[in-house]
Amino acid sequence: MTQDAASPKATAVPSYPMERVSPIDPPPPLALLRSGPAASRITMWDGSQVWLVTAHAHVRAVLGDRRFTAVTSAPGFPMMTTTSPLVRDKPHTASFIRMDDPDHARLRSMLTRDFLHGRAEAMRPVLREHLDEMLGELTRGERPVDLVRGLTIPVPSRVIALLFGVSDEQRELIENRAGILIDRGYPPAQVAAARDELDGLLRDVVEERMRMPEPGDDLLSRLVVDQVRTGKLTVEEMVPMCRLLLVAGHGTTTSQASLSLLSLVTDQGLADALDKDPELLPKAVEELLRYHSIVQNGLARAALEDVELGDVTIRAGEGVVVSLSAGNRDASVFPDPDTLDPGRDARRHLAFGHGIHQCLGQWLAKVELEEMLAAVLRWMPGARLAVPFAELDFRHEVSSYGLGALPVTW
Ligand code: HEM
Repeated sequence: MTQDAASPKATAVPSYPMERVSPIDPPPPLALLRSGPAASRITMWDGSQVWLVTAHAHVRAVLGDRRFTAVTSAPGFPMMTTTSPLVRDKPHTASFIRMDDPDHARLRSMLTRDFLHGRAEAMRPVLREHLDEMLGELTRGERPVDLVRGLTIPVPSRVIALLFGVSDEQRELIENRAGILIDRGYPPAQVAAARDELDGLLRDVVEERMRMPEPGDDLLSRLVVDQVRTGKLTVEEMVPMCRLLLVAGHGTTTSQASLSLLSLVTDQGLADALDKDPELLPKAVEELLRYHSIVQNGLARAALEDVELGDVTIRAGEGVVVSLSAGNRDASVFPDPDTLDPGRDARRHLAFGHGIHQCLGQWLAKVELEEMLAAVLRWMPGARLAVPFAELDFRHEVSSYGLGALPVTW
């Protein structure tokens, strides 16, 4: 039997996002919903009702199905945050994460070469050098050290600056505006203004490259030479593309690295396992991605046609939120899912999404995470939390769940 919005089972409608009980585990009602129908009704902050999908198989089914659109102006598209309506009103500023194919594929394909596994690996030695320099300086100073300010915020930002080939001064300006976009603490109008300013800054950088007879060998220069000058990409399209890389690549990596380092300094089993066998690091990083699932409220889509999802019919024009954190704690795929087990094969995790929008920067993110963990193990042997766990500042309001600070000593 299929179920739809009007069926009796859909009467108790929880509000979403749900509150965490433990700072580390997803909200408990998600586990209950996962054992129920393929999708359940939830009420969003604006009072609208949409479907919530929690089981691993159903999350993959939705994200892999072209009948669900990522275009925010589509009827029924869930408004995840109070700033979503402002973004929805301006479809011309959308980046390809909010487009369907063929538009999405045309733009994404211009970047795929730069984000291949091999390209990310090629950045590893440069990144390691930066990390040794940063940690050398950090460990010479006073203890405790805040690994968020000292490491997990600056590293993704330096990596993006390296990719883009921008100066430190440009990086700081860009970073400041991008920070407002990532943090949910700002009023919607200020977020929209920061996005316009960021677009202005990025446009200046792009136009600077356009004026150079022979731009360099960075990502932005390659886009200008191969795509803009050949008429395949307009500057109007390139600006949101750069903004996407900045916003998608920074806050996420910072949050995931902060929580991964928190696990490293609080979970003796993890620290011992990595000490004993450094080769375990890539596996442990996959498990940390599964376990922390920092895109905590999941991903939004809207149905373009009626879709049967397991025992539920999702009607055309209805919104869907897929919970990556619920899917990543699905015991049918990851036995004993609430345990962090660095030895497990967690590669089927959903932390990077699934389907055509699956994270473009995933190889780069994994290299950054591996290198940050390895650097802390190298420079701060026996690192431990310098404050009681209960005093940690977990950032619930940011789009990717993380920590405001991580004070450690060693
Ligand atoms: C897409 C997570 C790091 C660039 C995504 C999506 C997720 C995700 C869940 C899918 C969004 C959707 O389907 O609506 C993460 C996590 C990261 C991370 C957890 C760090 C641990 C990065 C980095 C970059 C990046 C370092 C690049 C510098 C992108 C881009 C997309 C994306 C461009 C859009 C892909 C598309 O629409 O085809 N990411 N990401 N991400 N990510 Fe990441």
